[in-house]
Amino acid sequence: MRAVVYDRYGPPEVLRLEDVERPVPKDDEVLVRIHATTVNRSDCGWRKAEPFFARYFTGLRRPKRKILGMELAGEVEAVGATVTEFEVGDPVFGVKGFGAHAEFVCILESAGLAHKPAGMTFEEAAAVCDGAIIALACLRKADLGQGRSILVYGASGSIGTAAVQLAKYFGADVTAVCNTKNLELVRSLGADRVIDYTRKDFTKNGETYDVIFDAVGKHSFRRCRRSLKPGGIYIETDLGFLWHVPMLALLTRRIGDKRVTLPIPKYTKENVRFLKELIEAGKYRAVIDRRYPLEDVVEATRYVETGQKTGNVVLTVHRNGAGAIA
Ligand SMILES: NC(=O)c1ccc[n+]([C@@H]2O[C@H](COP(=O)([O-])OP(=O)(O)OC[C@H]3O[C@@H](n4cnc5c(N)ncnc54)[C@H](OP(=O)(O)O)[C@@H]3O)[C@@H](O)[C@H]2O)c1
Repeated sequence: MRAVVYDRYGPPEVLRLEDVERPVPKDDEVLVRIHATTVNRSDCGWRKAEPFFARYFTGLRRPKRKILGMELAGEVEAVGATVTEFEVGDPVFGVKGFGAHAEFVCILESAGLAHKPAGMTFEEAAAVCDGAIIALACLRKADLGQGRSILVYGASGSIGTAAVQLAKYFGADVTAVCNTKNLELVRSLGADRVIDYTRKDFTKNGETYDVIFDAVGKHSFRRCRRSLKPGGIYIETDLGFLWHVPMLALLTRRIGDKRVTLPIPKYTKENVRFLKELIEAGKYRAVIDRRYPLEDVVEATRYVETGQKTGNVVLTVHRNGAGAIA
């Protein structure tokens, strides 16, 4: 099968398309023929081994897992002997740690895999899980609900577009901060108010919020403090270079009345099914910026690393199927 492989850490150019052996599912695994996957910020972090401690998971000197790719949507090609939830031909979507930048991948039946939401293309379904599951981990810490207010900073990214929609679903009053070109998009995702960060600084307008969620790692607790209500929560997503964030989270548990918190995303079947239900109820959609064929993975990765994508970047694998609803 065709797969994107890499055998040393480095820039996007370390990625190359190769023919590798097709994986064979174990008894408790499903073999998925992938129609679409994504390039996301985690894939880029693993590839660059940034932050350095990423090597603890991927190999100290060189990558142990040669194929990146977390998100996937496709059709079940084969099932292991004990699999009961899926049958050959079922359209599925989900998320796993590695291996989705390929024509086929094996995934545990019990992992973050579910039947694809009805009425959604494979490309759209591939772009659902990562941003939304990170956003879910953040928002569940924030105890959102009717009467609670949240400001989402960086509302146009993968995590940000998910956070706006999920915060609305949980009943919060949502203010979203993004660049001029994304104001309409973010409004269409349900934001009650939008602020263009190129024109206005939300920390200087006198408004306060129960929760401030920096969905793009470009702000700081120090600068946002005064915009939090008493008892307010500041959530940070980008832990890569922000070693002080875990320290701040510990400190603010004991000192002061405003808390810093950080997400630990859980890529579980339960969360994937939750998103499927939301999508089918018309409460969630994946935002796609660009689509690239698998062989253009280097170009796709370069674009993701500009830090300026809107929502998600999709790789189409089995091209005939990727845009289909099936
Ligand atoms: N905690 C975790 O497990 C985890 C996992 C993956 C990623 N992350 C981190 O989470 C962060 C968000 O990831 P993502 O994939 O959602 O990011 P992303 O999609 O790459 O975010 C890009 C978006 O952020 C906007 N942006 C860039 N600079 C901005 C600024 N100064 N102010 C406001 N918006 C700005 C960009 O729009 P404009 O440039 O047009 O404004 C663009 O739409 C990243 O820092 C990533 O490293 C965390």
